[in-house]
Amino acid sequence: MQSSSQKPLSLAQQEFLDRALRVNQAGELAAVLIYDAQTPPIVRQNPQLKDLMKHMYDQEANHFQTFNELVAKHRIRPTLMYPVWRVAATALGWSTAVMGREAAMACTEAVETEIGEHYNRQVQTLFKWAQDVEAKGGQVSGEMKELLGTLRRIRDEELEHLDHAVENDAKEARPYEALTGVIRTGCRAAIWISERV
Ligand SMILES: [Fe+2]
Ligand SMILES: [Fe+2]
Repeated sequence: MQSSSQKPLSLAQQEFLDRALRVNQAGELAAVLIYDAQTPPIVRQNPQLKDLMKHMYDQEANHFQTFNELVAKHRIRPTLMYPVWRVAATALGWSTAVMGREAAMACTEAVETEIGEHYNRQVQTLFKWAQDVEAKGGQVSGEMKELLGTLRRIRDEELEHLDHAVENDAKEARPYEALTGVIRTGCRAAIWISERV
């Protein structure tokens, strides 16, 4: 039950959230699979990275579970591209890991740059909604506050991964520009498609 001061979401807002949760679920599935594929070759060559790889994997697994639960709770249809992203993410993780530590880290740097911005846009949109509701004397629902908090936390964790990648020589990858350029373009395309299909 909503109290009278809580404004229900408009249809456009509802649709925005459906799209956002669908694309976030797909992105986090991809993140889990990338680290899953990268970890064995990377840790074999660089045992010192075992804890870092596990730390990032564990956070991605938590993000994935978070969006799985939200998608199920709001009965949102997962993207039809799900099986395609599974294959693409595993291939990306495996191939960058085989290229070496620097390429694997450049992959994380590229992905997290796009995903950090992606979550940031969602945080800004929800924050604006909350401000509008409060400006009209209404009350932001607990659910909306919680979602905003969740998105902020996940965004910060993605940006933490980005920092780890740079600290671990992502910029030394060769060819750095081509590799990160291709991965960033791929991420943007995957986001665009997952929001629509
Ligand atoms: Fe994530
Ligand atoms: Fe991440």
